[in-house]
Amino acid sequence: MAIPKYLLLILSTILVLSCHKNENVRSRIDFTEGWKFSLGDHVYASGNDFDDTSWRSLNLPHDWSIEGKFSQDNPTKINGGALPAGVGWYRKKFSIDPSWNKKLVFIDFDGVYRNSEVWINGNYLGKRPYGYSSFRYNLTPFLKLDGQANHLSVRVDNSTQPNSRWYTGSGIYRNVWLVATSPLYIDHWGTYITTQEVSKDFASIKLEVKIRNKSQRKQTIQVETELFDASGKKVASAKISQSPMDSLALLNQQFKIKSPELWSVDHPVLYKTITRIYANGELSDQVETPFGIRYFKFDPVKGFFLNGQPMKILGVNNHHDLGALGAAFNTRAAERQLQILKDMGCNAIRMSHNPPAPELLDLCDRMGFIVMDEAFDCWAKKKMAFDYHLDWEEWHKRDLQDMVLRDRNHPSVMIWSIGNEIREQFDSTGISMGKELAGIVRNLDSTRLVTCGLTEQDPSKNFIYQSKALDLISFNYKHLQYPDFPKNFPGESLIAAENMSAFATRGHYDMPSDSVRIWPQAYNKPLVGNPDFTASSYDNCHALWGATHEETWKVIKDNPYISGMFVWSGFDFLGEPEPYKWPARSSYYGIVDLCGFPKDIYYFYQSEWTNKPVLHLFPHWNWTAGQVIDVWAYYNNADEVELFLNGVSQVVQSKTKNRFHAMWRLIYQPGTIRAISRKEGKTVLEKEIHTAGIPAKIELFPDRNTLKADGKDLSFVTVKVVDKDGNLVPDASNLINFKVLGNGSFAGVDNGCQTSMESFKSNQRKAFNGMCLLIVQTTKSPGTIEVEASSDGLHTARAVIKSKE
Ligand code: GAL
Repeated sequence: MAIPKYLLLILSTILVLSCHKNENVRSRIDFTEGWKFSLGDHVYASGNDFDDTSWRSLNLPHDWSIEGKFSQDNPTKINGGALPAGVGWYRKKFSIDPSWNKKLVFIDFDGVYRNSEVWINGNYLGKRPYGYSSFRYNLTPFLKLDGQANHLSVRVDNSTQPNSRWYTGSGIYRNVWLVATSPLYIDHWGTYITTQEVSKDFASIKLEVKIRNKSQRKQTIQVETELFDASGKKVASAKISQSPMDSLALLNQQFKIKSPELWSVDHPVLYKTITRIYANGELSDQVETPFGIRYFKFDPVKGFFLNGQPMKILGVNNHHDLGALGAAFNTRAAERQLQILKDMGCNAIRMSHNPPAPELLDLCDRMGFIVMDEAFDCWAKKKMAFDYHLDWEEWHKRDLQDMVLRDRNHPSVMIWSIGNEIREQFDSTGISMGKELAGIVRNLDSTRLVTCGLTEQDPSKNFIYQSKALDLISFNYKHLQYPDFPKNFPGESLIAAENMSAFATRGHYDMPSDSVRIWPQAYNKPLVGNPDFTASSYDNCHALWGATHEETWKVIKDNPYISGMFVWSGFDFLGEPEPYKWPARSSYYGIVDLCGFPKDIYYFYQSEWTNKPVLHLFPHWNWTAGQVIDVWAYYNNADEVELFLNGVSQVVQSKTKNRFHAMWRLIYQPGTIRAISRKEGKTVLEKEIHTAGIPAKIELFPDRNTLKADGKDLSFVTVKVVDKDGNLVPDASNLINFKVLGNGSFAGVDNGCQTSMESFKSNQRKAFNGMCLLIVQTTKSPGTIEVEASSDGLHTARAVIKSKE
């Protein structure tokens, strides 16, 4: 239970932490506020006497790289996002209420990129090389309890570069928690819930509780667990006693629930347990564990089943950056990404290629996404000079164990991936290593399947496959070989863990007359050196290993034994601008751009993956008279679509199997294109695009108008440059100046352009293809936030956002 805010006394930079009235109940305090930060190395910054008054004050999560300047000379190089890395220090001063003197006090870091080292009052607590692991230190022996200041120091070293194939960010980029418990307490990640049996009538649930006793005396304990359904009704409970326990006890409790509500992607219903431990009748600790009840299987012939129903896993891969926010985790930003994907019909996320922020898994549980939780992008063999292979020997077991221990209560997690495109698949070391890693996972959780993202589809050449340690075979790319799978891998189940890698830039189109447009030659043609470094928004592909969205989906859709797929990638991400060179600095693979604006291909998926009526018409209608223009439409729930150019009907196109879009090749003339989709002769949807005039005004569209005044919540404000009639001006690049007044602040700006060198942390941004984004963050004071967007020669726009307690 968190400490009430009024008990947090802020004395200059000193935070006094006090305990909840019920001294025996644990406290878990958000420890992200009031940090000091300095870029560069500081030899003595681990000690208490160090003077950090000149350091910058900030709140976590924080990513210093995203604040930097793009340069091709930055050692991260364009694959790492071309932003600075280096060494940084964080310090936090706090004092603790004397009533905590019988408590154990821990600090939990959800993730620090990378090579973090932590000291409390000058005492070294340890290091954690892997930037994606969550970890805890026990502060208790070193704490000053008598109201004096305690100093926590964290050194973060991301200086050895390159250490990643994508943008990582640098710093304490996830949340930090201070946890206080009594000496008799439930261990870190100490509850583990599994569904043993489930049917329509009942579910039998097992809870394993790990209890630690640091009280120096043997204690008799009672463990009581209550189980609640989604409405908060208690539906089961269990009690168990344990005679005098020493330092560690592992207890099991069983529950039966009648008519359980099953968790699914459409109905992500969550139960929870509250577990309390008592010693001599006194409450000693209490932990809440959300969970879901569901069952699933992967069938080698029929594919994936959730709760007995066949379904395709329709997923995307995402890296962890949040666009203009960089790697600094923000729950609302992650939730918005998931909402955008959910609306598209996506039901699964592959956490490529590392364990995510824990809150992202909470969101997947709540919003209904199936998760492939992935541990590593490399094992002992490197992909980059300074990547995790250097830490492999010492850390892989611990990092893998910690991922499973942390994440194994999430109903969304159904697949553990021990790696992505691991080099060891190509030689015999893959056999023993595959066995070892799958064994580590299974020791901690045998209720999910173990997989590994593989590229080699010849079983005789794939040594990780030959380890026989995988429950599920994941292939990346080469979809044309999937039809051989049943023959080559008899009895095995298949999922396509990574596909497409088709690239596009929102709002950019190459026309049939442009050689860039014609693939697969595209890869060898003018992509590199193309003056504007943009990629066509038609269904483009990466000719080396990728394929178009449409052709890959056709194979997945038509073969029931393929349990599903994960598109590379859901969102554009920072780094890996392949195949473009500098000044490209972020990827082109996303279905959605870095701002969160859908590219056209988004509507292809929406038309295939949902039952919502879809009619998406593109491109824009501002061309040169006489130019040959391909017009495409993605549509569904209709058997035909008709296009009109300035009122004149073009050919009616009919929906046939696996013909995923309608296309008309027109000679451009200014005016209007209008599409009408029909089912059995009745209009389903209509869409019009007009030739836009010159930019006249700005329009603002906040995604939410009422926010939480918690200093974290965000409004994503879409900014459009339109003509006098409100038509988006498709090539507008006006510089927009922003003001954020009242109880809000700037969190970032972006326009989705992969080659923009503008700062994400500025109060201005050029529109790109007519649009840009402003991200506004609340303060802790409720009230009104006024946003103003202005630009030379354009009508200013204003929006009002409220923030509430
Ligand atoms: C895959 C890799 C991904 C990404 C992608 C780009 O081979 O697993 O991380 O690099 O290629 O096409």
